[in-house]
Amino acid sequence: MPARNDRATADYTEKIPNNVNLHEDRRLQRALESWQPNFIQWWQTMGPTLPTQDVYLRTAVNVGRDGWAQFGHVAMPEYRWGIFLAERDPGRTVGFGEHKGEPVWAKVPGEYRAELQRLIVIQGDTEPASVEQQRNLGATAPSLYDLRNLFQVNVEEGRHLWAMVYLLHAYFGREGREEAEELLHRNSGSLDSPRILGAFNEETPDWLSFFMFTYFTDRDGKYQLGTLKESAFDPLSRTCEFMLKEEAHHMMVGTTGVDRIVQRTVEVMREHDTDDVGGLGAIPLPVIQKYLNFHYSVSLDLFGGETSTNVANYYTAGLKGRWLEDRRKDDHKLTSDAIMVDALSEDANGELSIGQTEVSALVGLNTDLRREYIADCQGGVKRWNRILEEGGVRQRLKLPHVAFNRKVGAFAAIEATPDGEKIPAQEWERRQGDWLPTDVDKTYVRSLMQPVHQRGKIAAWIAPPRNGINGQPFDYDYVHLA
Ligand SMILES: [Fe+2]
Ligand SMILES: [Fe+2]
Repeated sequence: MPARNDRATADYTEKIPNNVNLHEDRRLQRALESWQPNFIQWWQTMGPTLPTQDVYLRTAVNVGRDGWAQFGHVAMPEYRWGIFLAERDPGRTVGFGEHKGEPVWAKVPGEYRAELQRLIVIQGDTEPASVEQQRNLGATAPSLYDLRNLFQVNVEEGRHLWAMVYLLHAYFGREGREEAEELLHRNSGSLDSPRILGAFNEETPDWLSFFMFTYFTDRDGKYQLGTLKESAFDPLSRTCEFMLKEEAHHMMVGTTGVDRIVQRTVEVMREHDTDDVGGLGAIPLPVIQKYLNFHYSVSLDLFGGETSTNVANYYTAGLKGRWLEDRRKDDHKLTSDAIMVDALSEDANGELSIGQTEVSALVGLNTDLRREYIADCQGGVKRWNRILEEGGVRQRLKLPHVAFNRKVGAFAAIEATPDGEKIPAQEWERRQGDWLPTDVDKTYVRSLMQPVHQRGKIAAWIAPPRNGINGQPFDYDYVHLA
């Protein structure tokens, strides 16, 4: 057995469950214990609004390979939000950048302090934001199974906030503690103090949006965590590694949620031999496509501009790597490599068109990550199209072009169709309702959102899941309402 500084199993006798030996650092423990009531206060005022007695939830108890979580009915405000870092690899070395091959850092190097703090704050800000965005969904849950999954995602995003706050408190002194307070003060959609990133200020008003959000926007989180997991700052790496484990469930909720909506739509289309299922209690495929277009395009924005010197510097410094850095077959320094990135090109007449341009690989790292993400998103579309195909329906879903509906990066300045054809602003105004959810679409989707809170029952616009949670049947009492 290699020596381990930290225990794999959490200490649940403490106020804050943790596997970081929190009791050995009284100052840090006291600081976090004084942040804890603020967190609970935030959960009570900005968290789920549907009153419940208890929910069948997974709680992390261990970071080891098997048996890392336990399931049971828990009153949500009493959920044990804890601090868990994946086990330390004592021989771990920096995998990329100018420090490649050196031992990883147990502490924050002074010269990278500001950058690391910024990266942690930006990641941390997204976690409570999504809880805020989803707070009213419980009232319209299509089943107790779905309600439970919503709350599972919510409590785990709360835990991810804890994960980032731990790093801020433990490694960034007074400034870190101030940032931890700010994470509770900013609110999704707030006019005075909004969340940092655009997609996290959009509302999640219905369950189609929720499933698209957990598919597309939580998946952005997966890719960001994947790059931070590579960090030379070892506590950040270990934190993100464990968060990724929880994130897998959020992806599953999104993927299978859309599966089940598509499945139900196909069934109703066949039953009534029509494409127009709008009046029949199902969600028409064109509406599903519009929601997909919206959530995918705002999620693409989360990856930032096509080129970024900041991100190049993060990489060179070893703060933030690439997705699956160790599987890349290059020198992991990229100082002499190049990459083609999306760009607007200008012809001799000053006419702009959608194209690409070559930049240094370091500067194009946002593009590299966005492409990994896009390839992953294709997987969902493929799966949903298989459901359409097996249902004998000829329509297909697809991802819109990378230039469609962008507010960040090279294409923010232009308008483009989902097929990637550049169009004038007036044409965009006229046609955007063909591609993005209109008020009519949203009103229709919302009209379907009638709660089904009876055990074993499900709303008519979505098919039941293939499997329950943790081996329980679909009709299990996943949630006891208050
Ligand atoms: Fe998260
Ligand atoms: Fe998530």
